[in-house]
Amino acid sequence: MKRLEGKTAIITGGAGGIGAATGQLFCEEGARVALVDLAESPLAEVAQRIRGAVPGAQVLEIAADVGTEAAAAAIVKEVLAKFGALHVLVNLAGIRSYEPLAEAKAETWQKILAVNLLSYAYLAREALPALRACGKGSIINVSSTHAVNPRVGMGQYDVTKAGILSMTRTLAFEEAPNKVRVNAVCPGLTLTPFHMKRLGRTEQDLLTEDVGHNLQRRWADPREVAFPILWLASDEASFCTASTLMVDGGTRV
Ligand SMILES: NC(=O)c1ccc[n+]([C@@H]2O[C@H](COP(=O)([O-])OP(=O)(O)OC[C@H]3O[C@@H](n4cnc5c(N)ncnc54)[C@H](O)[C@@H]3O)[C@@H](O)[C@H]2O)c1
Repeated sequence: MKRLEGKTAIITGGAGGIGAATGQLFCEEGARVALVDLAESPLAEVAQRIRGAVPGAQVLEIAADVGTEAAAAAIVKEVLAKFGALHVLVNLAGIRSYEPLAEAKAETWQKILAVNLLSYAYLAREALPALRACGKGSIINVSSTHAVNPRVGMGQYDVTKAGILSMTRTLAFEEAPNKVRVNAVCPGLTLTPFHMKRLGRTEQDLLTEDVGHNLQRRWADPREVAFPILWLASDEASFCTASTLMVDGGTRV
């Protein structure tokens, strides 16, 4: 029996590095997966890659801007129409901003709060009726090691990631009677195309880099973050709720 056999999952940010790795792993473990991201073509590329790697994979691509409240209900409706049930919500879409707090603009605050925090809240709210109905729903909110490890220069992002941890715990308390588990995963530095582009460096170059601020002194592969998400989504994590799982190689900054 595969670990997500018979389950349906929504993964926001599904065309990104960690989202695509999570989507593929979920399909390998028998889930039907709805990948949500901004644009159609990167979604199609990821879905095609997954179907190539996992014969028979059931992938639904949904192009939507999760930073708008209306998107959440539309996404859940489309998934239920296609798959008939929903068991797992992985809130993972995220954007970054690099304004020091002393210079942070209102426009940037609003955008990053909408995508990184409010989309998690709206998707959870709209998904809850179906997650409750399935009898053992699971929400995994992807935060960051920088929710708890402060640093200079990404304050807005870090605030949203800290807010995700608080939202996760409260929602876990509120939904425990409904048998919906809610947990957070805090990745550390994970080697995704986003970082390669941002730093203008190759994967090989970054893989051999000595990363000083984590105990393993390296970048994570996206699958190393996808596996803990998979575990929290599965029934193996049935006694795990309101928790924060650090997946950061022991980051100390
Ligand atoms: N990669 C890392 O080092 C790292 C570390 C800690 C936390 N994280 C978190 O993990 C998650 C995934 O990170 P990643 O490195 O794969 O990033 P990524 O940029 O590759 O993926 C994020 C995805 O979210 C999508 N997205 C952004 N805004 C959206 C919107 N409004 N509507 C729908 N989709 C939208 C992007 O298009 C992108 O595909 C993010 O929440 C990020 O904050 C990543």
